[in-house]
Amino acid sequence: AFPQSVRLVEVGPRDGLQNEPTPIDTATKLELIDRLGSAGITHIEAASFVSPKWVPQMADHREVMAGLKRRPGVTYAALTPNLRGLEAALESGVDEVAVFGAASETFSQKNINCSIAESLERFAPVIETAQAAKVPVRGYVSCTLGCPYEGEIAPEKVADVSRTLFEMGCYEISLGDTVGVGTPLKAKRMLECVAGQVPLEKLAAHFHDTYGQALANLYAVLEEGIAVIDSSVAGLGGCPYAKGAAGNVASEDVIYLLNGLGIASGIDLDKLAETGRWITETIGRPNRSKVGVALGAR
Ligand code: HMG
Ligand code: MG
Repeated sequence: AFPQSVRLVEVGPRDGLQNEPTPIDTATKLELIDRLGSAGITHIEAASFVSPKWVPQMADHREVMAGLKRRPGVTYAALTPNLRGLEAALESGVDEVAVFGAASETFSQKNINCSIAESLERFAPVIETAQAAKVPVRGYVSCTLGCPYEGEIAPEKVADVSRTLFEMGCYEISLGDTVGVGTPLKAKRMLECVAGQVPLEKLAAHFHDTYGQALANLYAVLEEGIAVIDSSVAGLGGCPYAKGAAGNVASEDVIYLLNGLGIASGIDLDKLAETGRWITETIGRPNRSKVGVALGAR
């Protein structure tokens, strides 16, 4: 059955911007984060404490965290692939961190330069240290509906990695369709398989929209009861290590869908859509939210 309410995790400032080839000012990132908070978003992935050689756009992670105009009730999260990233994130006063693994060996190598097994070993001290600092850890699993290098990925593999991360202490597992190749029945079957290993209420959907299926896939998993959705304002983004992958599903489109289904989110759609128009104009990108474009044309 559909959930009564959904928590939106806005990943635009991180997933949405990490792939931008030209540097974006820290001030622009901070204004984006502030506008998102003002639209009622309570969970914002603000930065990524990864190597600046790997992802130059996220090199100002410390400045972003330090410059936040923190709103009460908003969680400001960051990616932390290793202990070094975690320590810097903790010093910056992060509210929550995320480790990111994959269900595909090749993607794991390309994205974080190690095997799946090595990544899990590397995450163990990251999770322990974060927990000791009372900072919750989210776990991402990439390539849950397909891999840009390996093609099909078995749902059992996704379930395996998800369960391991959950047992290691991640409070929530976000299932990434990194390349946006999934279709609704496939998404539903993958979710059913993972939910056999990790409680459904501990799972989130993180779908990219490369093939235009993300909203349909979300509808399918909402019907199964998924109540946490990752999305990016204006559909910004793409993964630097998944060539050709488009951005996440647009936050505005998700909220319009939820509103139509009578599912509460606490988010002001008009404000969110205005934010999407502002950031795309500011960084010179097309607005990939159909809802954002439509509302802007009224
Ligand atoms: P490595 O080369 O194996 O590690 O990279 P290393 O420890 O040998 O370090 C290499 C260099 O990076 C060294 O610098 C380190 O000091 C530095 P050098 O000696 O060459 O000058 N370094 C760091 N610098 C800053 N912060 C750090 C850090 N760690 C090392 N934390 C590593 C391993 C994980 C660091 C690298 O592969 C990396 O940064 N990868 C990040 C890739 C990435 O950010 N991808 C995008 C995010 S994932 C995603 O988008 C998917 C998701 O959205 C879900 C989905 O859609 O599926 C989450
Ligand atoms: Mg992503």
